Amino acid sequence: MKNIVCLISGRGSNLEAILRAEREQQWAAQLGARVSAVISNRSQAGGLAIAASHGVETHVLAHSAFASREAFDADLAALIDRHDPALVVLAGFMRVLTPAFVARYQGRLINIHPSLLPAFTGLHTHERATEMGVRVHGTTVHFVTGELDAGPIIAQAALAVRPGESADALAARVLTLEHELLPRCIRWILEGSVGLEGQKVISTRIDPALLLRVAA
Ligand code: GRF
Repeated sequence: MKNIVCLISGRGSNLEAILRAEREQQWAAQLGARVSAVISNRSQAGGLAIAASHGVETHVLAHSAFASREAFDADLAALIDRHDPALVVLAGFMRVLTPAFVARYQGRLINIHPSLLPAFTGLHTHERATEMGVRVHGTTVHFVTGELDAGPIIAQAALAVRPGESADALAARVLTLEHELLPRCIRWILEGSVGLEGQKVISTRIDPALLLRVAA
């Protein structure tokens, strides 16, 4: 069985979307894969209860208990490696990772970011998008590299910003796209349709045009 380890920091709605896809699409039977653990750096993360309600093992590793980023990442890697994961998913994990951590999981570490990268890296993406007046906004799933919110893009989902749309309304609509995109990318990686070769995403069985979904 291929193990997926999800890292979270908060609400866990993307985690919930992954667990729902796992159940509905029978990943265990169809892909030989399952979410084997959820790790949060915050004990109050809502996603922990979501994981527990799906019967998934949870761990809390509080970053505040560590003197350095390196020390935290070393313990985090040790915890992750207990599951020998085929894939590590940053599903709303709000921590910058050290180069050593990123290198360790090269090609099997992905992140979801709420913007069309490379636009709007970092926080408050929807506020900045509405302030800038962009007409198109969305979400990106990418392999993680040493740079924050950068790295080879696996897929994006986009939508047209409505005239006068608030940042909150936009965030809610983008989140719906996130919930569709992230499980789909996980599935592609696990079935071997998408992978990382050097710094390039290669897709074998998937038409590259499908890697962008534009919402109505
Ligand atoms: C999502 O918007 C994700 O793109 C970003 O953090 C947020 C996490 O939300 N990286 P949730 O915890 O999955 O609900």
